[in-house]
Amino acid sequence: DKAGFRHFMAKEIAEQPAVITRTLDAYLDNGRIDLPAPGLDFNTLDRLTLVACGTGHYACYTAKYWFEALARIPVDIDVASEFRYREPPLDPASAALFVSQSGETADTLAALRYCKGKISTIGAVVNVTESSIARDSDLVFPIHAGAEIGVASTKAFTCQLVVLLLLALEAARQRGTLTEEEVTGRLTELRALPGLINHALALEERIGRLARRVAEARDVLFLGRGAMYPLALEGALKMKEISYIHAEAYASGELKHGPIALIDEHVPVVVMAPTDTLFDKTVSNMQEVMARGGRVLLITDAEGASAAGDGVWETLILPEVAPFLAPILHAIPVQLLAYHTAVEKGTDVDQPRNLAKSVTVE
Ligand code: M6R
Repeated sequence: DKAGFRHFMAKEIAEQPAVITRTLDAYLDNGRIDLPAPGLDFNTLDRLTLVACGTGHYACYTAKYWFEALARIPVDIDVASEFRYREPPLDPASAALFVSQSGETADTLAALRYCKGKISTIGAVVNVTESSIARDSDLVFPIHAGAEIGVASTKAFTCQLVVLLLLALEAARQRGTLTEEEVTGRLTELRALPGLINHALALEERIGRLARRVAEARDVLFLGRGAMYPLALEGALKMKEISYIHAEAYASGELKHGPIALIDEHVPVVVMAPTDTLFDKTVSNMQEVMARGGRVLLITDAEGASAAGDGVWETLILPEVAPFLAPILHAIPVQLLAYHTAVEKGTDVDQPRNLAKSVTVE
């Protein structure tokens, strides 16, 4: 049931404030993190491995920044299809988390099975709790996104991010890299996120108009730094899978190592730059793009918009948010841009060509 929306994807994008609230309700008890029993002891872990495919991999990539910055745990990430055949040596004092909306992705399941007996704990971050990946894990962390029908993952992505962030905060609390008060403060900010997402959703009309022009492009580039880099990757994936426009993502700092050669007036460049310690660096990359005629679509906050200066093609202004939450909030305009670009192009948004919702063969 599309509940009056034109596509399941549109409905699932719009549901995010509600489903994230549900996820938070499931993991927070009286303002404290309450993990499904028996919980996870982060003090005994030397490292963490995060494995997934597609969008789940980008959720893991974002979480790497969180676990490393907040809890100071070294994190290895990989796509499941590489991990399983590379057969990496594993530290027995490590845990691995397998992130999968469906819980049935063949490569992710095989990667999980490879880890069995080699590490201390195997955890599943899944939407479908009655799934193979959940069954084969020691611990299951449900993301509570509800059924996701659109092939392009949207609400499952943000709910995966929320669960991974909660795990990173819990790791930080246990390991003492954040004080109890600091964790409580971050949780209060997280509680406010669904409200901020509502503000981001209000940009939809504007994004719809912008998408008409993006739909004319042959290539689109996405740039971000720090934890915004994995979101750039996710933005490019979303754009190509439903609009069939070639899209690529780069860490902003990599621009001058090659991709800047692609820039001309025909290539929209989506720059994700919330106000944070890396903002000035991203803006200077953006200016390099504009100096070569590139059309920059800047996604930022009010402060970032006024600091960015002239010459930006279009600016989308999101509400101010704590930097650690920016990758979740910024996911909304990125999803809406891909969605409206695809609608503009007249593609089959919910069932894009050549793709399946659940990839149970490798
Ligand atoms: O069910 P899973 O999360 O394991 O699926 C993994 C990928 O196939 C999936 O995220 C895919 O990349 C999506 N279509 C992206 O929108």
